[in-house]
Amino acid sequence: MSTAPVAIRRRNLLDRLPHQGYDQAYVEKPMSAIAHLFRQLTHGVYVVGVARGSECNAFTAAWVMQASFDPLLLALAINPRNSSYPLLIASGAFTVNVLHQDQMTLAAHFAQPRCENKLAGIDWSQKRTGAPVLAECLAYFECVVASRCAAGDHEIILGRVLDGSLLNEAIPPLEYRDTGDLDGSSRLFPETF
Ligand SMILES: Cc1cc2nc3c(=O)[nH]c(=O)nc-3n(C[C@H](O)[C@H](O)[C@H](O)COP(=O)(O)O)c2cc1C
Repeated sequence: MSTAPVAIRRRNLLDRLPHQGYDQAYVEKPMSAIAHLFRQLTHGVYVVGVARGSECNAFTAAWVMQASFDPLLLALAINPRNSSYPLLIASGAFTVNVLHQDQMTLAAHFAQPRCENKLAGIDWSQKRTGAPVLAECLAYFECVVASRCAAGDHEIILGRVLDGSLLNEAIPPLEYRDTGDLDGSSRLFPETF
C-alpha cells in the first residue's frame, strides 16, 4: 500500500484517468467501504482456459459478461500479469468454463499462480481452438479474440463466441459473492474514489 499522503495519491489516480473537473466531489472512504460497495455487483465464477500450441493453462475469473447478441460476444477483464495472458494473446482464443455451486475447490485451485501444471489431474478436453474445456463445469463457451482494450490494471478482451454447450445443468452457478476474499481483492481497492 502506498504511504504517500491521500491528496497526492488521489492526484496520481486522477492523472491516470480522463476526468472533467469532478474531483471536487470526491469523498474519502476507507478501503473496506469501497470493497464492500463493489461486492454489491453480481458476478459468476469461471475458469478461463488458454492454449498456445501444446502449452495449456487456466485461471479463475469473475469479470466475465455477455457484451453483444449479434455477433455473440463475451467480455473478459484479464490482468496482464497472469501467466495465462501471453498464451491468450498469442493464440487469440480462450474458453470460459462456468463453475457451479459445488466447485469452490476448483475456483481456489485455478486461482493459484501458475504452477507446474494446474490442469494435471483434472478431466478436460480441447475443442476447435485447443483451449481447455473442463468436463465437470456447468457450461462452456469457446471464443476467439475480436478486440482488446486497456482498462487500468486489467485489459478487456472481447471474444466472439464460436461454440458452447451445457454440460451439468442440474446445479446452479457459483456466485462470486460466495467466494469471500478468495481473490484477495480487499487489499486491492484504492482508498478513495
Ligand atoms: C473468485 C476469483 C475471481 C477472479 N477474477 C479474475 C478476473 O476476472 N480476472 C483476472 O485476471 N484474474 C482474476 N482472478 C485472479 C486469477 O485467478 C489469479 O491471478 C491466477 O493466479 C492467475 O493464474 P495464471 O497466472 O496461471 O494465469 C480471480 C481470482 C478469484 C479467486
